Amino acid sequence: PLLSQCYNLHDFEAVARRTMKKTAWGYYSSAADDEITMRENHSAYHRIWFRPRVLVDVENVDISTTMLGSKSSVPFYVTATALGKLGDPEGEVVLTRAAHKHGVIQMIPTLASCSFDEICDARKGEQVQWLQLYVNKDRKITQRIVQYAEERGCKALFITVDAPQLGRREKDMRSKFTDPGTNVQEGQETDNSQGAARAISSFIDPSLSWKDIPWFQSITKMPIIIKGVQRVEDVIKAVEAGCQGVVLSNHGGRQLEFARSGIEILAETMPVLRELGLENKIEIYIDGGVRRATDVLKAICLGAKGVGIGRPFLYAMSAYGQPGVERAMQLLKDEMEMNMRLLGCNKIEELNSSLLDTRALFTH
Ligand code: FNR
Repeated sequence: PLLSQCYNLHDFEAVARRTMKKTAWGYYSSAADDEITMRENHSAYHRIWFRPRVLVDVENVDISTTMLGSKSSVPFYVTATALGKLGDPEGEVVLTRAAHKHGVIQMIPTLASCSFDEICDARKGEQVQWLQLYVNKDRKITQRIVQYAEERGCKALFITVDAPQLGRREKDMRSKFTDPGTNVQEGQETDNSQGAARAISSFIDPSLSWKDIPWFQSITKMPIIIKGVQRVEDVIKAVEAGCQGVVLSNHGGRQLEFARSGIEILAETMPVLRELGLENKIEIYIDGGVRRATDVLKAICLGAKGVGIGRPFLYAMSAYGQPGVERAMQLLKDEMEMNMRLLGCNKIEELNSSLLDTRALFTH
């Protein structure tokens, strides 16, 4: 189909499924075990309903916001996904260029197909990028990566903590993967027999712990955000450790099967943080299964500062290149504006939990 016939993010997935190479589709679309957490990520949003306000003047609607001190035209960002060149020969820079067109923040993955410099060089003007970090067993390598990212203007450091070992993604394991030129880190051996994910991730340090956080704080001034938190107890630990944020995430369902959805964890987390007076001490992000602007709005209503989107942009890129990613972003923006109006809200700051009925969220 033509790009103009894609009307929502699901449409890009359908095109990508039919047009992508089997190995690439296998890597992008796969998730852990029976992919139950992956499906739950999106379907959990279906258990939340709206309580809109009426007779509010909604002629003007502004969906812009601030995340970790940086302006963003929207409360969603391009989250880190490895191996961009499986989807487009140009790789992650395609996402960078589309993100620039729409004023969207991009998180750069440690395991990008493009070099880190290429992705930074593709940035234009005031465009904001963050770094996603997989921590290497060799901390000297990690220190170099972090400090270089700060030097090159990255505005935040997201440390991924939900992947001490890569999850079993059988769709990916079944397809014979050959690396399209990822920047394999020093001292790293690749074994392709376990699929793309495991082949490129053997350097990740499974001994990483809360004790390491002060070290990161000693080597960088970037705000530190823990990506992959799944319980409020750990959100509190992140506050105590002096982190600026967490991402409530199960890695798109690719790690622990039967991990809960980010939105459910968010709904459980915010009341506890408020009770402890910690809600302004840390910024809460979530990702996983966000496919509609209503999903984004529900997360913001529940207290998230922003929402990460992974596969949809990969699918849009794989199916249609940069114009595809741009259209995906535009569609989301249009959906956002319309639904803000229908909710009776002019600004992101007006979104709150009184606009939601979450009774069904925990009673399914
Ligand atoms: C990811 N994700 C991920 N996360 C991370 O911290 N480092 C990484 O290298 C990757 N790589 C990666 C590759 C692919 C193909 C996918 C689909 C995901 C997880 C990602 O940041 C995010 O948590 C999820 O993608 C969010 O779920 P959705 O939006 O894909 O449903």
